[in-house]
Amino acid sequence: MIKPEAMAAGHAGKILDLILSKGFKLVALKYTRLSEGEAGQFYEVHKERPFYGELVNYMASGPILAAILEKDDAVQDFRALIGATDPAEAAEGTIRKRFAESKAKNAVHGSDSDANAAIEGAFFFSTREQY
Ligand code: RTP
Ligand code: MG
Repeated sequence: MIKPEAMAAGHAGKILDLILSKGFKLVALKYTRLSEGEAGQFYEVHKERPFYGELVNYMASGPILAAILEKDDAVQDFRALIGATDPAEAAEGTIRKRFAESKAKNAVHGSDSDANAAIEGAFFFSTREQY
């Protein structure tokens, strides 16, 4: 996902270009907005964390770009490309270093496993929206 603050700042094109230039194949793409209920469901694993309320509120605050990406070692390579959760700790050249506002408003989301990528892909896309 490209998160609300990065969309509002007009970074979507540059972020997508960077992702595609690193060899990720686009399988699905959607411009949409999460309700608070949907954002809460998407980030349900973080329900007990202190930042959950803020996270849900933020993720529902504006439209996002959702995508399914395919590549060998996609999860690992995408997380390397986006960088650490906190942009202050993200490596030079990573998406979060370049585009994130803060640890909370950190420009992009990446799945943390193949299993979660499948769940999260199905959250946004029907099979006929995936190619
Ligand atoms: P993501 O799931 O969005 O790709 O991010 P991540 O794996 O790098 O980080 P994670 O621990 O899964 O946290 C999910 C999102 O919650 C927000 N967060 N805020 N204020 C805070 O201390 C804090 N910590 C995390 C961020 O938006 C983070 O991406
Ligand atoms: Mg995560």
